[in-house]
Amino acid sequence: MSATSHAGAAPKRTQVAIVGGGPAGLLLALLLHRAGIDCVVLERRSRDYVLSRIRAGVLEQGTTDLLRSAGVGGRMDREGLVHDGFDIAWRGDTLHIDLRELSGGKTVMVYGQTEVTHDLYDALDAAGVPVVHEAEDVRPQGLETAEPFVTYRTKEHGERRIDCDFVAGCDGFHGVCRTAIPRDRIETFERVYPFGWLGVLTRKPPIQEELVYAHHTRGFALCSLRNPQLSRYYIQCSVSDKVEDWPDSRFYDELEARLPDRIAANLQRGESVEKSIAPLRSFVAEPMRYGRLFLAGDAAHIVPPTGAKGLNLAVSDIYYLSRALTAHYGERDGRLLEGYSGDALARVWKAERFSWWFTSMIHRFEDDGSFGQRIQEAEFDFLAGSKAAQTALAENYVGLPF
Ligand code: APR
Ligand code: PHB
Repeated sequence: MSATSHAGAAPKRTQVAIVGGGPAGLLLALLLHRAGIDCVVLERRSRDYVLSRIRAGVLEQGTTDLLRSAGVGGRMDREGLVHDGFDIAWRGDTLHIDLRELSGGKTVMVYGQTEVTHDLYDALDAAGVPVVHEAEDVRPQGLETAEPFVTYRTKEHGERRIDCDFVAGCDGFHGVCRTAIPRDRIETFERVYPFGWLGVLTRKPPIQEELVYAHHTRGFALCSLRNPQLSRYYIQCSVSDKVEDWPDSRFYDELEARLPDRIAANLQRGESVEKSIAPLRSFVAEPMRYGRLFLAGDAAHIVPPTGAKGLNLAVSDIYYLSRALTAHYGERDGRLLEGYSGDALARVWKAERFSWWFTSMIHRFEDDGSFGQRIQEAEFDFLAGSKAAQTALAENYVGLPF
């Protein structure tokens, strides 16, 4: 199989070299191509590998609008599920958060990140934008000069070099771009949570139409879905747990125990088709720029999954970055590029705050003691009794403007 999605090797020169072919890199490539700007995507993994990763699946309205404007909204609008609200379960009861009413008509779309990535690959193929897969040892260089370049290697074409005007670091949390920045030119902020999420994907109808975020003294649980035949469930677990510790029967017993009886009664237990444990982390790197390198998405920041902000934040970064590069090349106006890091970070920190808050209010924190538990209860009681608090939750959940 060819390492590139289209015939032939990648060019020797491009305007923007994009490192990483996750949602951030692929969307940037498509938006730049639509604006007449040349780019190449260098992705370490195979296309099949990228498309087999299971990630969150709740898209904000700003995300769906941008995907539509990039020309990749067709299948999403046909197959995605519009959600007007979700439930928070607490002490055997539920609180319904009516997103549409509380946010002045906004909703979210349930459509898996895997599907978004699929649609982006299809659009890039159709447009003939080069995506190099299995690019090994990718190294961005000369980032502080006017002539940056990226070197890499593929099995098919050996050692390669692409000269460019800019490098976009869209290579996720474990990528090479952020680490290419000298330590004294970047500051990082981090919180690691003392638990993980154990996730199961199963080919059974979801427990209910809307999502359920459940707080329980045994730990947090989330009931989500990908489509009417495919459910996604999570339970809070210990970071030291192994997937092997959790056969399906134990997972479902624990999930049921954490849900109100009325909801648990609807659970259809199906064989897990994917099961994994993810740690929870908040992380931000500042600034999101070093010379001619611009960071976007998980390369620059991580949120815990509570509230599903990760993909949506990657999309808003790409909105700011594509707009700035388009102004640079089109109107010869560099002001938006100069402002990229500040513009993106202003929104990133608000989403970090929301994801941290939602995580803190709904998980079980064993080391927080009885004071911490009472504060959590008061937080929930306040939310349940205050339309203002619910409005703030809804405003963040549907996505802050960009
Ligand atoms: N060289 C080339 N590609 C790399 C390298 C490297 N050294 N390191 C990582 N990559 C690739 C990864 O294989 C991955 O496909 O970069 C891509 C980064 O994609 P994501 O991790 O999906 O990050 P991003 O595109 O920013 O999307 C953010 O998607 O991954 C979720 O939880 C994340 O929801 C969030 C959103
Ligand atoms: C998911 O469906 O994977 C999902 C949904 C909502 C979240 C996190 C994950 O907050």
